[in-house]
Amino acid sequence: MTGDAHGAQRVAWTAPWGRAREWFHRKLAELPLDLVTDAAGNQWATLRGMSERTVLIGGHLDSVPDGGWLDGCLGVLAGLEVLRRLASAGAPPVTVRLVDWADEEGARFGHSVFGSTATFGSLDLASLQELTDRDGICLADAVAGYGIDLARVAEASRHAAHVAAYVELHIEQGPVLESLDIPLGVVTGTVGVERHVIHFSGQAAHAGATPMERRRDALGAAATLALAVREIARRHGGVGTVGRIVASPNTPTVIVGQCDVWVDLRHENEIRLASMLVETQEAATAIAERERVDLKSRLLWQIPPASFDPQLIELCEEAVQETCGDVHRLPSGAIHDATQVANSGVPAVMMFAQSLGGISHSKEEDTRTEHLLLAVRAFDRLVSKTTRWAAGW
Ligand code: GLV
Ligand code: MN
Ligand code: MN
Repeated sequence: MTGDAHGAQRVAWTAPWGRAREWFHRKLAELPLDLVTDAAGNQWATLRGMSERTVLIGGHLDSVPDGGWLDGCLGVLAGLEVLRRLASAGAPPVTVRLVDWADEEGARFGHSVFGSTATFGSLDLASLQELTDRDGICLADAVAGYGIDLARVAEASRHAAHVAAYVELHIEQGPVLESLDIPLGVVTGTVGVERHVIHFSGQAAHAGATPMERRRDALGAAATLALAVREIARRHGGVGTVGRIVASPNTPTVIVGQCDVWVDLRHENEIRLASMLVETQEAATAIAERERVDLKSRLLWQIPPASFDPQLIELCEEAVQETCGDVHRLPSGAIHDATQVANSGVPAVMMFAQSLGGISHSKEEDTRTEHLLLAVRAFDRLVSKTTRWAAGW
């Protein structure tokens, strides 16, 4: 069991995630693949082809808490079925590898796309060492439980060698394809993200005896900032979320003295994203002054927007068109490991399957069975086309 009545519980670096990965490893072991887990915890399965040039298929088994069944899993399980088909057909023109990335979601420590950053980017060890979860457990200790030494995660980068193209199938997680009544989409790129923790420090004091004008209410500042973030995002045509607030002492009869606010800002345009961040910082400063609280802010994680490869976008469009006729190109508001791969300069593309009601990161996340079947067929086509493209055929 890796889920419960509230949804999927495969949060990276927890026992249910470990069980899901063991299950997946057993499935891969049934096929003639070389299996290895790297220094960052990514699971790799390799089907040797006629050349070392590699087409890489990615996905992730980890989920957010109370998450959905398809986010990330669709990619790795479709990848497994594509490898099964390829393995039964003799050596492919190039090597095909499947990777189950470690900690795509960043749900426990706030750092998304951990495994793909170790492989195709670079992890900042100093800031990783500061990351703790809500129980105060640090990332270094959590990953050590899975045999990972933070000081050695960069060794995962040797797996980036020979990768000529990266493809990933995912659910859309938004409402666009459903509103157009189109089963599958071709993704043009992903947004950039700025994720910061803002700490307001006021004065814990008696809820009854402290006059309103004398308060230094850290939660009042946090709530005002949460509303400001929405306005800033709307003004720039991006999205902004306060998804987590921790108030202390968190009891009904005490004015909140300390409050942490997690702000996640996203935009497909890097300059707009930078403006959103500046305006959020200015709003936090003005609010802190008005509420007479102190302010500290800390970068948790950031990633620039990514554009997918024009030729792979064409191949993806062909694969979707040949499978179900209708096709639509769209950007992704969610972050994916493909973002990190594309930003490293490796040609990448993603295919989306329609999400029912546009809901994801929730137990209600779902996709019609016929759309899942179309997605796996179209993705299989995309992998075949990409192997021929990578081989120069
Ligand atoms: C991951 O799903 C993200 O977009 O944060
Ligand atoms: Mn995902
Ligand atoms: Mn997700």
